[in-house]
Amino acid sequence: MSTFEEIKPRELKPALLELDGISRPSVEAHYRLYQGYVAKRNEILGKLAAVDREAANQVYSDLRALKVDLTFAIGGIKNHELYFEHLGGSGGNPSGAIGRLIDRDFGSADAWRADLTATGMAGRGWAWTAYDWDERRLYNYIGDAQNTFPVWNATPVVALDVYEHAYFLDYQTDRAAYIEAFLGNLDWEVVNGWVEAYRIPS
Ligand SMILES: [Fe+2]
Repeated sequence: MSTFEEIKPRELKPALLELDGISRPSVEAHYRLYQGYVAKRNEILGKLAAVDREAANQVYSDLRALKVDLTFAIGGIKNHELYFEHLGGSGGNPSGAIGRLIDRDFGSADAWRADLTATGMAGRGWAWTAYDWDERRLYNYIGDAQNTFPVWNATPVVALDVYEHAYFLDYQTDRAAYIEAFLGNLDWEVVNGWVEAYRIPS
């Protein structure tokens, strides 16, 4: 048995409806997808509370199906909460602690941007800048889906959504233009707040 509490979607910051280059209809549709991840997380945990654990099987079982897709729902929640929270700023070069970390670990803000952009172009769903606590530095990691390729003991501080749903309405297939718009709307104060909250040494 396992117990759980239902969670609610976080509210969308008003600034998200006035981004530069990422339209309101696109953000509103995107937010609805996020609400869907929260609903499915709650639904799956509810079903897991009553699932037949004796029937667990690696080929197919209700337990397996629920636990696999729980990771997709939770990934969708965590990724989008980062994504929505750190947009609404004016982009530019990173300042403060995150600026120092990026300069130290990538050489320059331009080099970081180029690597994150390339990672986003190569990913099928996500690119993250994350602080790896074991190596004590930032890396740009790639994800194909909400639940693929997480790296243990690393804390994401930038989450770039490159699923088509993030940009198709505004840019059709021009993902590079969307990534540029994403970078132009980053709120470095929010990112620095995370660096401080997680006590990432800079
Ligand atoms: Fe998304």
